[in-house]
Amino acid sequence: MAQQVRGVVAPGKNEPVRVETVIVPDPGPGEAVVKVQASGVCHTDLHYKQGGINDDFPFLLGHEAAGVVESVGPDVTDVAPGDFVVLNWRAVCGRCRACRRGRPWYCFDTHNATQKMTLEDGTELSAALGIGAFAEKTLVAAGQCTKVDPSVSPAVAGLLGCGVMAGIGAAVNTGRVGRGDTVAVIGCGGVGDAAVVGSRLAGAARIIAVDIDDRKLETARSMGATHTVNSRTTDPVEAIRELTGGFGADVVIEAVGRPETYRQAFYARDLAGTVVLVGVPTPEMKLELPLLDVFGRGGALKSSWYGDCLPSRDFPMLIDLHQQGRIDLGAFVTETIGLGDVEDAFARMHEGDVLRSVVVL
Ligand code: APR
Ligand code: ZN
Ligand code: ZN
Repeated sequence: MAQQVRGVVAPGKNEPVRVETVIVPDPGPGEAVVKVQASGVCHTDLHYKQGGINDDFPFLLGHEAAGVVESVGPDVTDVAPGDFVVLNWRAVCGRCRACRRGRPWYCFDTHNATQKMTLEDGTELSAALGIGAFAEKTLVAAGQCTKVDPSVSPAVAGLLGCGVMAGIGAAVNTGRVGRGDTVAVIGCGGVGDAAVVGSRLAGAARIIAVDIDDRKLETARSMGATHTVNSRTTDPVEAIRELTGGFGADVVIEAVGRPETYRQAFYARDLAGTVVLVGVPTPEMKLELPLLDVFGRGGALKSSWYGDCLPSRDFPMLIDLHQQGRIDLGAFVTETIGLGDVEDAFARMHEGDVLRSVVVL
């Protein structure tokens, strides 16, 4: 029987979000209904509300979530009712060329739940990133659920569903930060701070945090940055070169998504270093570089998609490390809030003094 739950809906472009009654159908083949326990407020939710992703209003927001599987549809074998799971954006096929080569984040045939959740009047909802987790329950593809240790706090587990995984993965999976490396992280919001945590985990000797906001640099230091550079007042390329005897960093992680910061990343790396772009640019952004500078430098220019993570490998591992006290994912949770507080949380996110507000149910 379809169920009625409360959920946070963005009704139209730039309109305030509202808590509405959402109808969640029974799970069909390959689907699961998850009782959401926690869901972080991310910039992408705000972008949906602003119409910056697409125009498929109304949206059911929320996509950084953990919860307990309530029911599964026919043919679901990987998860069962009662499992504690972290949700990810897309179930992958497991059969295409990308999946077979161990790169499921480039899967050619990803999917979400086939059925739609609706409003009471039958209007179909678009679930943010195929999840829609600012709701007491949500319908997803079973393949979007990854089972993890149920003893961790749901607010912490849910973080791995998006920004924190993207940042840690950018350092560990994409950048392949190694023991003794010098890493520079440009842009120290949630994603950049997670890249700092990932770099430390990977054994980096020096982690240089770059931001235009001193408060962000302070937080980055508490996450493990060994040096900080305010790029409003100091040229970060020169500062990074100075700190590395003129060579540049082994890995530079760009976590802003702008041409000028990408340019800094390009020139702040060692000649054979790696640049990882994890910040997401907008379609109109362009960057001109002398081709000779690209030629004259070896190394690698990479982008990181969802931290190039393998959810089944990385989610349980990072939760294990957190539970052991070897990384502190709790430091990313600034506050816990209710479903009715999402609009205010967007405003605080804008102010820049929140790493993550997490809706807890
Ligand atoms: N130079 C250095 N830092 C900058 C600059 C700049 N020119 N402009 C902004 N910043 C800093 C901000 O001060 C902030 O600390 O970048 C940080 C961005 O952080 P958030 O806005 O909190 O964004 P976050 O969630 O970390 O995501 C960063 O990664 O996944 C993508 O879409 C996401 O593009 C975004 C990026
Ligand atoms: Zn595939
Ligand atoms: Zn997100």
